[in-house]
Amino acid sequence: MNKTGNWKEHFNVDKDLEVKNIRSYFKCSKCGSKTKAPQKTKRLENKLCKNCFGKKRDNRKNQLNELTGSQWATLSKSVMEYSGTRPEKQKIHGAAFPLSFVEHHISTYSKRGETIFDPFLGVGTVSEAAEKLGRKSIGIELNPEFVKLAKKDIKNLKNHKIICDDVRNSKKHIKDNSVDLIITSPPYATLLRTIKGNFAYKWREHSDLNVIKNPPPYSSEKKDFGNLTYEEFMDEITGVFKDNYEILKDNCYSVWVVKDYRDLKNKVPYVNFHSDIIKAAQLSGFLLWDIRIYDQTKYRPLVVLGYPSRNYYLNMGHSYILIFKKHIVSKLKRKKT
Ligand SMILES: C[S@@+](CC[C@H](N)C(=O)[O-])C[C@H]1O[C@@H](n2cnc3c(N)ncnc32)[C@H](O)[C@@H]1O
Repeated sequence: MNKTGNWKEHFNVDKDLEVKNIRSYFKCSKCGSKTKAPQKTKRLENKLCKNCFGKKRDNRKNQLNELTGSQWATLSKSVMEYSGTRPEKQKIHGAAFPLSFVEHHISTYSKRGETIFDPFLGVGTVSEAAEKLGRKSIGIELNPEFVKLAKKDIKNLKNHKIICDDVRNSKKHIKDNSVDLIITSPPYATLLRTIKGNFAYKWREHSDLNVIKNPPPYSSEKKDFGNLTYEEFMDEITGVFKDNYEILKDNCYSVWVVKDYRDLKNKVPYVNFHSDIIKAAQLSGFLLWDIRIYDQTKYRPLVVLGYPSRNYYLNMGHSYILIFKKHIVSKLKRKKT
């Protein structure tokens, strides 16, 4: 309080109110409507009515994709389901992506004209989605039968290279810093050989769900990652991540779909596969950026697991979508922090 005891004078409240209450009348510079705005506001400065001021566009350049702000938000859910038809070639393969899953991630992490790479191409869902969305693509697949199926659906094989080779030769085919996004799903070490038949066998007769069967082993080829022991697989997959890191441009993303599993033949109740994949990626320089849960419960009917023993198991109805980034902070920024 000041000497005179007038607190209003001390804080200049009346003067502030006076200024705030003065409103100027003007014509909106956008729509021409008559309007008024309080002094010292951006709206008055820019001569905009309330409506036009609210509709002001965000003119910052989208550096990552071609989504609007609301699409950007809608596609950012951390739990997703991907429905969609499974064409014949996907049924033959047994573990192909739903097209909608690939479209979602291509739209999020790339722009038209950019190049998407799948080091384990399978029957080419990534090439197909890339062509549909106006991107280029490169895919590597060991099994010639899958390569044939992948090529069948692609109109422009110039923009979509499909290479039949071992993923370990990726750097022979692809230049460093030339790829804008990686989307893939690796074969799961000995998973395909260790899981027991079809999980759904018991409740099949009670279910009208379109059951996803466990895929058969891809081949008996020694080079096939699906035929390696878990330890060998982790060594080799670290090598794949290292090559991918060099092939990928700076500040671009790499999306991997994996599922944990049980190796009950060897009495291992839970194989924490997704954590080991994260470690392999980190060893190779990638930064773990996000994890999205891929909810597949609709397509995996419940099975009685362990009943009535003390071994109570969950029905695993989800996969992990692991999102890594080749995150390069510029030296300038690093100095500041
Ligand atoms: C999970 S599947 C990928 C399916 C694919 N996302 C799709 O939509 O069709 C993994 C693929 O990796 C292939 N593969 C296994 N070992 C490989 C290797 N050494 N080099 C390249 N591809 C390999 C398998 O033949 C299999 O098709």
